[in-house]
Amino acid sequence: MKKRLSIDLQQDLKKDLLKVKTDSLVIGVNEGRVLNPISTKIDKATKGVIKKLAKRKEFEGKVGQQAYIASPEGMSAERLYLIGFGKSKDSLSSEDLDKTLNSIINSIKSSKSTKVSICFPSLKYSNDSNNDSWFLQKMSTFLENKVYTYDAKLNKKNKAINHLRKVSVYLDSSLSANKQRKALKTGQVVGQGMNAAKDLANLPGNICTPSYLASTSRSAAKKYAKLNCKVFGEKEMKKMGMDCLLSVGNGSAQESKLISMSYQGGKKDDQPYAIVGKGITFDTGGISLKPGAAMDEMKFDMCGAASVIATMQVVAELKLPINVVGVVASAENMPGSKATKPGDVVKTMSGLTVEILNTDAEGRLVLADALTYVKRFKPKSVVDIATLTGAVIIALGYSTSGLMSNDDKLADDLLDAGQKSSDEAWRLPIWDVYQKDLDSNFADIANIGGRAGTITAACFLSRFTKDYPWAHLDVAGTASYKGLAKGGSGRPVPLLSQYLIDKA
Ligand code: BES
Ligand code: MN
Ligand code: ZN
Repeated sequence: MKKRLSIDLQQDLKKDLLKVKTDSLVIGVNEGRVLNPISTKIDKATKGVIKKLAKRKEFEGKVGQQAYIASPEGMSAERLYLIGFGKSKDSLSSEDLDKTLNSIINSIKSSKSTKVSICFPSLKYSNDSNNDSWFLQKMSTFLENKVYTYDAKLNKKNKAINHLRKVSVYLDSSLSANKQRKALKTGQVVGQGMNAAKDLANLPGNICTPSYLASTSRSAAKKYAKLNCKVFGEKEMKKMGMDCLLSVGNGSAQESKLISMSYQGGKKDDQPYAIVGKGITFDTGGISLKPGAAMDEMKFDMCGAASVIATMQVVAELKLPINVVGVVASAENMPGSKATKPGDVVKTMSGLTVEILNTDAEGRLVLADALTYVKRFKPKSVVDIATLTGAVIIALGYSTSGLMSNDDKLADDLLDAGQKSSDEAWRLPIWDVYQKDLDSNFADIANIGGRAGTITAACFLSRFTKDYPWAHLDVAGTASYKGLAKGGSGRPVPLLSQYLIDKA
């Protein structure tokens, strides 16, 4: 994985504040008339800049406020940025901290700084499970994530320039330096994972094909001794009875692939955690063709797969002492003379037959066989990740992933990991009342049915996951951005990584 930044702890920053040679010095300032020791030092050196700004009500240290001093007097830094952290007695929520981090990155980016030192004040957290280690990890992920640029296919002269290279961090904390460094490193690796997922998401469908996902997975595995990768082509899948998965790629010239990665960080017999990604490298809808508007966004239909490939690298890079299996079911969904038609019936690897009433409900078809395939690993839990339904956007919008599960403990663990990593999910029910929507006159089940589109899609998957604790993340709304910011978001790599970190 590509590292775009150097992020280090700078323990002596507090005492070297005035001497530190840097493009930008960023100081977290609390609100209120009595300044903390760090702000006092800065205020004195600059002949009262902080107090003056507060008096003029230009900058009072409210959460997320920012002020810029171009050539600060009495110090070696080229620029000084003041960032508000609220009253020192107040505890901060995750959203408050996001505001401060956004102000910091905006400041740094607008100044085109290369080298930056950030000095955080002592922090109190409004959520009991948050602490300094959590904050440093979060901050580090945030920074690495924010310096991402995608210009792989741009002419040299049009390439974006990322100025920021080096960030040095000081946090007023009682946590040991080693623990602080570990948190920074963990956070940065998760950020790199997000960026790896974004790179795959952003590549166009003519480049990022099932074969491309397979070769990317293979080369990722080569970088880590404990990471392995096996790829099955159409012939091998046919032998395993994966007609349901294969039916999706029938109209495409691109060969469908099943990618099976495994990471051995635990003992040989430790049951693995499995993650399974939907890897539709382009979803035209097939014979049930989608309308033309914004169809280009269906290149993002492999974001579940990207999150699996990236998370496997995060786990390997962090050397987590657990076993993890990552499976990607990949195909291109195209119309054509060999394409699957509405009404066609196919047999799944599990033996159940499926009446394909709508060829645009293809994600569940590739996942059905992949979810049957992972049974052989006797997994402790299985989480599938898929841009599965437009309906999840109607239910939860673009900020929250849909979570459905047959196991309350697993669901809670994932919701918790999502909250910790600011990669939120919300649970929807998959009660029996929804299951009958999948009844078919011509096969064991139909691939669509009912009004609750996100839930019935999960109900379909649940027919193949009865043998293990399973959860499904519908990331159709969260894995990519629309409009001006169009592109992969790197989600849900933070949630998945945090879930596995918590298990390690
Ligand atoms: N890949 C789409 C879901 C999707 C929609 C992802 C919008 C991102 C943004 C999926 O394959 C699909 O087409 N689902 C259909 C299901 C329907 C035919 C039951 C949908 O949501 O319309
Ligand atoms: Mn579709
Ligand atoms: Zn799709």
